[in-house]
Amino acid sequence: MSSEAFSGRRVAPSILSADFARLGAQVAEVMDAGARVIHVDVMDGHFVPPITIGPLVAASIADQVHDAGGAVDVHLMIERPEAQIAEFARAGADSITIHTEADRHTNRTLSAIREAGCLAGVALNPGTPADSVAELGGVADHVLCMSVNPGWGGQAFIAGSPDKVARLAALLPDAVIEVDGGIDADTVGSVAGAGAHVFVAGSAIFGAADPAGAYRTIAAAARAS
Ligand code: DX5
Ligand code: ZN
Repeated sequence: MSSEAFSGRRVAPSILSADFARLGAQVAEVMDAGARVIHVDVMDGHFVPPITIGPLVAASIADQVHDAGGAVDVHLMIERPEAQIAEFARAGADSITIHTEADRHTNRTLSAIREAGCLAGVALNPGTPADSVAELGGVADHVLCMSVNPGWGGQAFIAGSPDKVARLAALLPDAVIEVDGGIDADTVGSVAGAGAHVFVAGSAIFGAADPAGAYRTIAAAARAS
């Protein structure tokens, strides 16, 4: 992984909204346009209703992403995330993010993610207060603020998210703050201005007729704010 992948402001295309019959081509398209963080949404049908993808799909793109200097950013929306860390690390994940609501022992699990050689992230649902992760500064490399309720792409951005991002940035000043859900060229500026660094965008990129162009437009809006 390029150590630069998570530096600065990064728009991270989420393959949840990609055409899986053409996954490699879709990843190439956004990476050619400048993307360096590829976001992989894992759902188990328990923590959230849908079932999506697992380590096999992460592994299928990992070499391509790494060869282009990028990082595979795995977002686990699953119960018992600790049981899946080794599999995703083997699959080539560079970062693994767990939900604080899904794990009674987030400190231990985040440490285990680091021991597996990955960056460790903790995610919060919209209804979970920012200060619930206040004690994790020493073990969380990333904090992911959900700006929609997890489970589906294409939902509307929750308006209070920039304020929550600002609270998280103040609580965990050394962490990379990631925002996920409803990010597009209109919403990205508000969370960039609030102190977020990584902006996950699924439908706004892969739902567009021209994913590369959509990526460039959102990335420019993120930089401009
Ligand atoms: C939602 C996922 C997101 C999703 C975002 O539960 O965690 O990463 O792909 O999709 P958009 O950008 O369409 O809101
Ligand atoms: Zn996600």
